[in-house]
Amino acid sequence: MIHNNLSINSVGHLTFAGYDTVELANKYGTPLYLMDEDKIRNRVRVYKQAFKDFFPEGSVPEYASKAFSCKRIYEIMAEEGINIDAVSKGEIYTAKKAGFNLANCFFHGNNKTDSDIAFAIDNGVGHFVVDCIEEIYAINKIAAEKNVVQKVFLRVSPGIDPHTHKKISTGSVESKFGIAIETGQAMDAVRLILEQKNLSLCGFHCHVGSQIFESEPFCTAAEIMLSFIKSVKEETGFLASALNLGGGFGVRYTEKDPVTDYRAKIKEVADVVNALCKNLGIPVPKILMEPGRSLVADAGITLYTVGSVKEITGYKTYVSIDGGMADNPRFALYEAEHTVINATHADKKPNLVASVAGRCCESGDLIGEKLSLYKPSRNDILAVLTTGAYNYSMASNYNRIERPCVVMVNKTKDYIAVKRETLDDLISLDE
Ligand code: LLP
Repeated sequence: MIHNNLSINSVGHLTFAGYDTVELANKYGTPLYLMDEDKIRNRVRVYKQAFKDFFPEGSVPEYASKAFSCKRIYEIMAEEGINIDAVSKGEIYTAKKAGFNLANCFFHGNNKTDSDIAFAIDNGVGHFVVDCIEEIYAINKIAAEKNVVQKVFLRVSPGIDPHTHKKISTGSVESKFGIAIETGQAMDAVRLILEQKNLSLCGFHCHVGSQIFESEPFCTAAEIMLSFIKSVKEETGFLASALNLGGGFGVRYTEKDPVTDYRAKIKEVADVVNALCKNLGIPVPKILMEPGRSLVADAGITLYTVGSVKEITGYKTYVSIDGGMADNPRFALYEAEHTVINATHADKKPNLVASVAGRCCESGDLIGEKLSLYKPSRNDILAVLTTGAYNYSMASNYNRIERPCVVMVNKTKDYIAVKRETLDDLISLDE
């Protein structure tokens, strides 16, 4: 199977972390997001250990919580002792309510409003990642009003194309994120930050993109960023103590995607960072990275109930499920591929090529096309794999569909991390 927490039991059902998926679907209803808590913890530990082994002291991974945000995930990250990246008041608030120490939170985003900034400062968010000139002034002004010196990183765009889907590529000069090194604007922004009394610059940040399997784009980014650190030192006297290389390592959505040894990839980046610093004659900064997808994506699957199998003679076949773009918009947005299994008959070989369609009134509401699976009957359970990232967090109520619940499983129990929305939840804000 594509992930090592998936198997098939004696009645032919797909199992997930040892649990019978058909039984879980019966117990909690569908659509159902399932998350494997132990797998998340193990992946976090791989990152944490690699950071400890290969980077200077104080280097820690951050969990990019846009991938999957709810109170329970922040509790897990707090217990595992890693930092978080948050991009909105909502993520900060959720982390706070989960008891996460916000001193270990990095506040990202390319357009933080004055209200966001005030909220984050009031709640003791440890670091801001500044994205534009206006934010330099705004954070400094609000910090001054609150008598705080706010620690900040500057997000710069290194000018790299990581060869991933263009909608998840962020490091080019033209990107809406960060300030470009190439145009000289990043250096000007550094000078401006250093002039502000209520900002304390810690270092620099870049994020080149997402779903990247090679360490090469990170190494190229490190090369550009470390040279920038050296130029900044020469031109302003400021020596960055930390460098954040962003998130982005990929995961397996289909068998075509490689298995990634994250520890080995991090070591490759560390080797390049160490060699470059030596060549440049600068101390190795603390290294931060902010994986989202690679901490949670393959720890999640989604279960659906099949409604119909519609064969359009001579054309194509649709398998319709009781979810779709409202709980997983990734195909609609990026034509992203996911592996789909008939969980009720996981022991049977695929004998059908079909499009899996959601139930929204929208032709583009598909989970995928040309998917091979064992032909389902009404009420069979379908499992869509690798949905732990950017599914629940991107879910909507389009067509007034209730968002599914999130169930976590671990060695000892299955439990609800996020309740299923009710019809009353849907109208709870209506006047
Ligand atoms: N840091 C920054 C500044 C980011 O913008 C992102 C992702 C990450 C870290 C985490 O990247 P990851 O390790 O998860 O690749 N919705 C899209 C992905 C959007 C990624 C946005 N930024 C998808 O479903 O593929």
